[in-house]
Amino acid sequence: MFAAFAILFLTLLSSEVMSKPLSYRRDQAIKLRNAPNLVLQARANSSNSSVSFDNWNNISALQGFDEFNGQNNFNGSQNSQTIVIQETETQCQTVQIEIVQQKLAILQELAKRIITEQICDVQTQTIVLAQHNGALQVFSDDIQRKTTTRQIGYDQTIAAKLTQITNTDGSLSTDDAGFTGSDVGQNTVVPSGNNWNDSTSPSLVEAAAAAASSASYQ
Ligand SMILES: *[C@@H]1O[C@H](CO)[C@@H](O)[C@H](O)[C@H]1NC(C)=O
Ligand SMILES: *[C@@H]1O[C@H](CO)[C@@H](O)[C@H](O)[C@H]1NC(C)=O
Ligand SMILES: *[C@@H]1O[C@H](CO)[C@@H](O)[C@H](O)[C@H]1NC(C)=O
Ligand SMILES: *[C@@H]1O[C@H](CO)[C@@H](O)[C@H](O)[C@H]1NC(C)=O
Ligand SMILES: *[C@@H]1O[C@H](CO)[C@@H](O)[C@H](O)[C@H]1NC(C)=O
Repeated sequence: MFAAFAILFLTLLSSEVMSKPLSYRRDQAIKLRNAPNLVLQARANSSNSSVSFDNWNNISALQGFDEFNGQNNFNGSQNSQTIVIQETETQCQTVQIEIVQQKLAILQELAKRIITEQICDVQTQTIVLAQHNGALQVFSDDIQRKTTTRQIGYDQTIAAKLTQITNTDGSLSTDDAGFTGSDVGQNTVVPSGNNWNDSTSPSLVEAAAAAASSASYQ
């Protein structure tokens, strides 16, 4: 269904990195090349069965929906990635679980705020939330290494736009943050230091996912 091809997109972003000796950058590139295979999928359009939400049901609030991912790429899984080569590698560092849960709760409540304050049409609220959940489901599959199509990390440029969500008075901003769906992934940072082990982790994360899933149904 998808024209899949293995390409390693390397972007040397900051001038700091550019000023590093070539040998350094080559080492970094080799390191990345030796990382698990990057198979990036082209945007597919071979099937007509995919739903377009542009003006879906004549809902004007949905006009332009497909320009931000959308048709054939509802959950963003077709986006390509460009890996940022960092001068100092970002490492994971364990912090207290409650601190992590607090941060994620903040993002969840912000998502609810955006959906309830900035969308008045309830069908649109439903579709936009489904797209949000779909993107996180893709990430869930990624951290369980169910696919080999993506590196596991985040787009640092998009993540840094957190401050653009609200105005200085705390109200939600109505400004254009200056990017579109296909830009997400173009500045991907892949933190290292996690304890993934190719031989033992697949069954362990599968069991973890099953346990988490059953916890939701009690
Ligand atoms: C996908 O296909 C539709 C027609 O089936 C066409 O209108 C549209 O431009 C195509 N999109 C891309 C990205 O090729
Ligand atoms: C998809 O739609 C295009 C025109 O929109 C048509 O030419 C093509 O045959 C369709 N493909 C399938 C598999 O239905
Ligand atoms: C959308 O609006 C057009 C023009 O008013 C109308 O012809 C069409 O039937 C509407 N479609 C739906 C799904 O309501
Ligand atoms: C994301 O959407 C694609 C279709 O565009 C689908 O094949 C894939 O299974 C979805 N991924 C997840 C994790 O739901
Ligand atoms: C992965 O786990 C196996 C089995 O416990 C162990 O032998 C191997 O050293 C581990 N690999 C790494 C890279 O930690």
